Formats: sequence, structure tokens, C-alpha cells
Amino acid sequence: MIGRHYTHHVEESESVFFPRDPRPILILPEWSRLSTICPSLPNAEPDDHLKFDSLALASLKCRPMMNDRFLKACRCEPVDCTPVWFMRQAGRYMSEYRALRVKHSILEMCKTPELAAQVTLQPIDRFPLDAAIIFADILLPLEPMGISLEFAQGEGPVIHNPVRDRAAVERLKVVDGGELEYVAEAIRQARKALNGRVPLIGFAGAPFTLASYAIEGGGSRNYLHTKQMMYGDPTAWHALMDKFSRVITSYLKRQIKAGAQAIQLFDSWVGCLSAGDYAEYVKPHVQGIFEGLKHEGVPLIHFGTGTTAILRQMREAGGDVIGIDWRVHLDEAWAMVGHDRAVQGNMDPLVLFAPLHEIERRVEDILRRAGGRAGHIFNLGHGILPTTPIDHVAATIDMVHKLSQR
Ligand code: CP3
Repeated sequence: MIGRHYTHHVEESESVFFPRDPRPILILPEWSRLSTICPSLPNAEPDDHLKFDSLALASLKCRPMMNDRFLKACRCEPVDCTPVWFMRQAGRYMSEYRALRVKHSILEMCKTPELAAQVTLQPIDRFPLDAAIIFADILLPLEPMGISLEFAQGEGPVIHNPVRDRAAVERLKVVDGGELEYVAEAIRQARKALNGRVPLIGFAGAPFTLASYAIEGGGSRNYLHTKQMMYGDPTAWHALMDKFSRVITSYLKRQIKAGAQAIQLFDSWVGCLSAGDYAEYVKPHVQGIFEGLKHEGVPLIHFGTGTTAILRQMREAGGDVIGIDWRVHLDEAWAMVGHDRAVQGNMDPLVLFAPLHEIERRVEDILRRAGGRAGHIFNLGHGILPTTPIDHVAATIDMVHKLSQR
């Protein structure tokens, strides 16, 4: 597959590779991983692009990223301005999303690759965001494992057969993610439709957060049943976490193979645990997932909320980028995580409801705390809310870009 060493002149490469593309092909050698430009090469070594000749590259039919500041920031490389995207950026605060939702259920949208790809691009078409995230849900892998899932109107997710004991854990199937081929296909279609405009993020739920839904049967306030299993039957608990970890690892590998250029692991509810319980019941499993993915060649983002007490442990568990929620100052969080890792965050999603001058004050504060250091990705501390004013979203993205210009 790998041809002669890359020795062509700029003009020659341009004419063979991207005839109408004004940007010089010389930017190629700066990219550290081929997989970020070509989804069919997820396992390329960092220097492989230097070994391709232009004919080989042309035959791959892939475009370079037009905007790679998100990927650069993930790797702590310098950028022209701070990249920004929002968790749940494809959602009900957008009229174009609501228009589709009138006709389709959330599960239908997730399981129809054309619709999932279309929704993925809605925020990208409207705002100058620096990354897209594939439209899917963290709960999708539960279905092929044998858990029946429904998104009830106005109630959020409902699980009809919650996993409450050892026998239920034993019944769960360890699937390899092939049953979720519709997500892989949505990724392929979204990559095609994006055509290199911005990178595409894939994702999965982390084992604790998935277990909390599977055990409670839906969202929860106190995680009573979850902690009951954890403390009362640690063997069943670890067996459950192990099953989720194996499913998540192969599912994420499939997403990367399909073209996901970064991966985010959502441990949204892990902040309900003490530092000691995190170390004992969760960390080894999350560590296993990051170990399993670290040679896949794409940046890995490790996100949770309420995590101030466990940020160091999250760093140890893994991830090139650590997600920070809004409860902690970004500079203090980054010091805990360590400046050799990138961080993502951390504006309170509710600040988007404030007057623009107040939003600007908050954006400025976060950027000041990031201190112009390489490796900051601006995001909210958690997902964007359905009633968020859309003009405030647009204004915030502009503020981040303008106020962070290097
Ligand atoms: O970020 C994106 O734009 C990609 C899409 C995405 C969805 N869910 C679509 C969705 C992502 C990344 C998720 C992750 C997810 N799903 C998480 C982790 C992130 C977080 O917010 O903590 C969790 C905990 C879930 C589980 C889940 N799915 C809940 C609790 C709900 C109901 C909440 C609500 O707002 O109604 C969902 C449904 C869901 N998943 C919606 C969307 C856009 C809303 C469904 C609708 O349109 O009615």
C-alpha cells in the first residue's frame, strides 16, 4: 500500500491531488496522522504520509481538513485561535432539528444514516463551529446487549428490563458493535457530506454512566440501585463494567474505522461517586478502554461532570483531552490535569441564556484562564439545553474566535 517516498514538488502534487484547491499541498507533512485525512487508514503510523507518493494519495480520494484547529488543539499543538464546539450541538434548540423531529423519533433518526448525517451537519451549516459530532446516543449499544430501550415523550430514556442482579448481568450479550453498523454508516455519510470542512467526532458512553442507566432503568437522582449493586455485589458490578468496556472498545474501534477523527467518552454521571469509589469500581475499567484505543491514531477525549475531586484519576485513566465542567476554574482544573494534556470546557450551559455582555465576560474569563496555552478546546461544561437562544450560540462562537486570536 505504501509507495515511494514523498518527493514531489508542490505544483505537481497540487495538480494531481486537488486540481481546484488553492491551498498548498505542502501542509500535508505537518499533519501527524494520516487517519485524520483519510478514514480508510485509521491505523496509519505518524510518518506514513511521508511515504505516500502523490498518485497513491490521489487514489485515496480524500481531501485535507480545511479546518484542523480542533485536532491540533487535541494534540496540544499551536492554533490560530481557540477551537470551539458544543456538546449536544445538534438538538432541539435548532428549528431545523425540531422540524425533523416532528416526523421521526429520536431512535429512528439515530438508526437512519441519512437522517443522522443530515442532523450532524445542521449546526455546521449554521455556525462556524470547529468540529462536528456524529448524531447518535450513548444508550444505543444497550439494545443489542439485550436491554430494551425507549425514549418516552418528555421523560427521557426508559429501560423496561433494568439490570438489577447477577443473573441479569450474566444474560447481557457482549456484542462487537457490528449490530450498530448504522452508526458507522452515518459516520461515513457525514464525513462525505462534511467534505473536509471540519473534523468529525465519534463517541460512546463510559461504563459507569451506561451502567447507571441500565441498572436504574432511566435517569436517576441518587443512583440507589447502582450503588447497591456496586457495594452489595462487587463481583456482579465488575462483571457488568467489564462487559460494557469490551462492547464500548470494539464499538469505538468501528467508529474510527468508519471515519471518526476523534473520540469522546462520556462519563456524564461519574461525579456522583467518591474519589475512593471511582478508584475501586470505575477507573480500572475506563483505563482498559483507553488502553484498547490508544494505538488507533485519533485523539481521545475523556469527559465527565462533577469531577473536580477525580480529575487526576481521570487523567491517569486516560485521554489526550480531559473534559472539564463549569464548577471548577479552568486554570485550576488544568493544573490538576497537567499541562501536558489538553483540556476541553468549561462554560456553564446556562450562561448562554445570559445577556450578551455577560456571556462575553464569561468567555473572556475562560480564555484568560487558558492563558493562550496550546491545548484548549472551548466547550460548555455539559450539553447545550433545548431552549437556548440560537443567536446567543452564534455570538458565543464568534466571541471565542475573536477574543482568542493569536
Ligand atoms: O452532541 C450531539 O449533538 C450528538 C448527539 C448526542 C445525543 N445524545 C442526541 C440526543 C449525544 C452526544 C448524546 C449523548 C448522551 N445521551 C449523553 C451524554 C451527554 C450528556 O448530556 O451527559 C446522555 C446522558 C444521553 C442519554 C440521553 N439521551 C438522555 C438523558 C436523553 C433525554 C434528554 C433530553 O434532553 O430529552 C437523550 C435523548 C437525546 N439524545 C436527545 C438528543 C438530541 C433529545 C431527544 C429529542 O430530540 O427529544
